[in-house]
Amino acid sequence: MRELIDKLEKNQKLSTEEWIGLIEEDYDTEYLFAKADKIRRQQYGEDVYIRGLIEISSYCKNNCFYCGIRRDNARAQRYRLDYEQIMECVDTGYKLGFRTFVLQGGEDMFFTSERVEKIVFDIKKRYKDCAITLSLGERSYDEYKRWFDAGADRYLLRHETADRKHYERLHPSDMSYENRVRCLNNLREIGYQVGCGFMVGSPYQNTRNLAADMEFITDLKPHMIGIGPFISHKETVFSEYPNGTLDLTLKLIALLRIANPKALIPATTALGTIAADGREKGLKVGANVVMPNLSPKDVRSKYSLYDNKICTGEEAAECIKCLNLRVKNTGYKIVVQRGDSKVTECF
Ligand code: 5AD
Ligand code: FES
Repeated sequence: MRELIDKLEKNQKLSTEEWIGLIEEDYDTEYLFAKADKIRRQQYGEDVYIRGLIEISSYCKNNCFYCGIRRDNARAQRYRLDYEQIMECVDTGYKLGFRTFVLQGGEDMFFTSERVEKIVFDIKKRYKDCAITLSLGERSYDEYKRWFDAGADRYLLRHETADRKHYERLHPSDMSYENRVRCLNNLREIGYQVGCGFMVGSPYQNTRNLAADMEFITDLKPHMIGIGPFISHKETVFSEYPNGTLDLTLKLIALLRIANPKALIPATTALGTIAADGREKGLKVGANVVMPNLSPKDVRSKYSLYDNKICTGEEAAECIKCLNLRVKNTGYKIVVQRGDSKVTECF
């Protein structure tokens, strides 16, 4: 396997069969993890970037089979933050040192083009040194364009799986793989920094699907790649399916780092949910972003994509403190970017 790992480092590319071998076979991951960390350090040193996550709505018009806030989950607790609440989260986050805000939500048409445009515009007006990341699902080219023109910098839209057939097993027929990919291409064409990603161990996923994900990502060359284990939610179609594993997620993070040296790769909340030290382990094998939750405490538990999600009882400040400690314990350090300069912050 060492030869293949070296080849990946050299070319940032492998054949499908080579990918399958690297993903599937059981081998000592020490060499892989060390290589991923070496590349991460070459690119980013010990820096870990921090993004403030604001979950603006748990309403969703879609019915993805895996997701706890799917339309047909009548038990889901629905909420949406209003304009003032979102601005308050941003104010709090700014005071705590955040310079990037991620506005994430289900596909909630209450958040019209105009409403999102105003929120983006006003945050940018108030905090000129901040970056805004949107993660609001599939929308039209014109909406994406409008939000970009209002000041949005980045957009996260996980492709979920790069295999059309697999996509169709995870989503009802009113969603399509084509549209997902079209959205990602539109976002990139408009000028966003784009993030894609997938769940590890989602139902029906096989190694060939994962190899397709790796190839899709190396072709798309996204700025950001978010992956985390699938975790079943009891009120979904997939309630009985097993969770993705820590080991496979770590292996894939390491492979992603080697294939995409400059990518921003978060140690996700889902990774911290399947294992108490999952995020720390992710950081040690190539991940370089953490996303503390800045959502108001009273809505936290309602943004329930999967069961037992962590960070649902903490205030923003507590969440940052906790993560800061965790990052320090791994030997890396949280940094905050202001414009072009980099300033190290200790919360
Ligand atoms: N387990 C893990 N991740 C999930 N997501 C949605 N539902 C689950 C689940 N049950 C992920 C999807 C989505 C992101 C916001 O959360 O990949 O794109
Ligand atoms: Fe949120 Fe630990 S990161 S409480």
